[in-house]
Amino acid sequence: MRIELDDLTANNLGVLRKINSVVLPTKYSDAWYKESLTVGELAKLAYFNEIPVGAIRCALETKNDQKTKIYIMTVAVLAPYRGYGIGRRLIDHIIEYAKTVFVKEVYCHVWTRNDEALQWYLKLGFEKGVLVKEYYKKMDPPEDAYLLRLRIQ
Ligand SMILES: CC(C)(COP(=O)(O)OP(=O)(O)OC[C@H]1O[C@@H](n2cnc3c(N)ncnc32)[C@H](O)[C@@H]1OP(=O)(O)O)[C@@H](O)C(=O)NCCC(=O)NCCS
Repeated sequence: MRIELDDLTANNLGVLRKINSVVLPTKYSDAWYKESLTVGELAKLAYFNEIPVGAIRCALETKNDQKTKIYIMTVAVLAPYRGYGIGRRLIDHIIEYAKTVFVKEVYCHVWTRNDEALQWYLKLGFEKGVLVKEYYKKMDPPEDAYLLRLRIQ
């Protein structure tokens, strides 16, 4: 079993679109996918024996021209391929990248009802932060999220 990560390109952008649409409840716009091509190491596809089965997409935050945090926008692995360490590889890649740009925090929001993802992030060393009321405004009714963060050594 071989797990490899690869860059996102115009030719495989449809794969990110497909994986996200199958795995995640949120729909992302064409502009969001187009922007994903511009974020370099912050967007990756994961391959399991050369089959694309997972993806991550993050955003770099800056303050006063300093890179401050990396925000995980989406991370998804197709259901039959979960539990093989693919999600961890994607997060580890982002942590390693964070170190190269001297970013000290990686964070994300998780739906309070998504206990699987919550437990998964905790297992990877993320800490549960504040509850953000009605973070998912497009849901009907709006749903809450926990902020989860990992401090980079
Ligand atoms: C969350 C998700 C990305 C995890 O991907 P994955 O490839 O199955 O995760 P990994 O196999 O890398 O898991 C890493 C470790 O966590 C463990 N793990 C997996 N799922 C877990 C869970 N729900 N709770 C606790 N631990 C879990 C694995 O056993 C593994 O442990 P090990 O290193 O001791 O063997 C995947 O389940 C997924 O796509 N879920 C749906 C989408 C989602 O909820 N995304 C996150 C919110 S945006």
